[in-house]
Amino acid sequence: MAAPAPLAALGDPDPAFADLIAGRPHLSAHARDGLMVEEVPLARIAAEVGTPAWVYSAGSLRRRARALTGALAAAGLDASVHYAMKANDSLAVLALLHREGLGADVVSEGELRIARAAGIPAAGIVFSGVGKSERELRLALAEDIFQINAESAEEIAMISAIASALGRTARVALRVNPDVDAKTHAKITTGRAENKFGVGIDDALKLYRRMASLPGIAPVGVATHIGSQITAGVGAYRAAYARLAELVRAIRAEGLPILRIDCGGGLGIPYRDEPAPMPEALAGAIKATLGDLGLPVMLEPGRWIAGPAGLLLASVVIEKIGAQRRFVVADAAMNDLARPAMYDAWHGILPVAPDALVAPIAPADVVGPVCETGDTFARGRALPPLPAGSLIAFLDAGAYGATMSSTYNARPLAPEVLVDGTRFAVVRERQSLEALLHGQRVPEWLRE
Ligand code: LLP
Repeated sequence: MAAPAPLAALGDPDPAFADLIAGRPHLSAHARDGLMVEEVPLARIAAEVGTPAWVYSAGSLRRRARALTGALAAAGLDASVHYAMKANDSLAVLALLHREGLGADVVSEGELRIARAAGIPAAGIVFSGVGKSERELRLALAEDIFQINAESAEEIAMISAIASALGRTARVALRVNPDVDAKTHAKITTGRAENKFGVGIDDALKLYRRMASLPGIAPVGVATHIGSQITAGVGAYRAAYARLAELVRAIRAEGLPILRIDCGGGLGIPYRDEPAPMPEALAGAIKATLGDLGLPVMLEPGRWIAGPAGLLLASVVIEKIGAQRRFVVADAAMNDLARPAMYDAWHGILPVAPDALVAPIAPADVVGPVCETGDTFARGRALPPLPAGSLIAFLDAGAYGATMSSTYNARPLAPEVLVDGTRFAVVRERQSLEALLHGQRVPEWLRE
């Protein structure tokens, strides 16, 4: 088991530009063209598409999907991967991952419909989430998706009633909260008893029994998801899966049916230089704890697949030399990439121009134009001079980037671009200002 990730000690130098580039195979620095994603200079994308813009590497998405499925197969597991599309719900990204054999983990009607629109068959879709509405459950049943993960006794009753009324049988897995500490950010830990997710491990057998007795439900398995951005080794996974294994044995001992185990997502990535566990380690943990049960396993990774494959490309609006600090004000903001403001997340920031990549560096605060102090991407980051118009790239923004954006400060949603070798395409257009006004009206009594 890997040691817990050491927090960056105060004053620890940030990784050098060269190290940030070397750790991301889709990035390279070209002497003439500057920072490139695959074979495409980011300066070219900025010129054609404008900024801010999300840029995804198709090659990186493919490599990561294959690395994950490859690690599971190499461990001798019968495994399927259901990509957690909340990380990145771009239609193009989903279509690409579908071609790599991945299904989808969805948490809303919107995600379910987008997954289907991307060509993912209903038989490849799992529905997770702590508050599925009646309407969403009806849709899931009408579409006959692969599996619904139930999170409470109340939801089990609801699924049974809806399925019975529709004359359907829902394939339901029971999401169990194993009460383990994934040692990640408090806002994204999900497997503690105090969290809202899943049913308590002590109630699980009773509820599984109930699922088997209710009309309209076919119990198919158990599921867990203990948190996100897990970097402290695979110890928490092992602890959670060991509890699941015990539960599976108890279910079998009662002669109840069980077909598979959903192992959740959560595998972390190194944003800075965290020693994040690799898929091989997760596959090993699954094999060691669940392997002898002889059941197929499912995984719901989001960040590990999409995070490193994307960046947010921005322009510097102004470089402001204050009395105490240098501020680089970007045209991207917390409404685009919310993670730094929301979780104090560290994202690598690279200049794009070739000379800027080798120029002398000095500390700067990188901020957005939104009227909040929290609209800060980085403090005291070592960066070259970045006069107005300079391009910069926020790294590892492929997951929980575009999907978490808002239009705060009436800032339209940024476009998404997919790079594939020498080609690139806008896969989601920049939102228009008309779209921000669309659907709004001033009521009649306020119009005179
Ligand atoms: N399965 C379930 C049931 C989940 O709730 C999640 C994430 C995943 C799978 C995928 O987890 P992943 O492999 O991506 O860690 N916005 C936060 C992350 C929130 C994760 C929510 N659930 C962030 O930007 O760090």
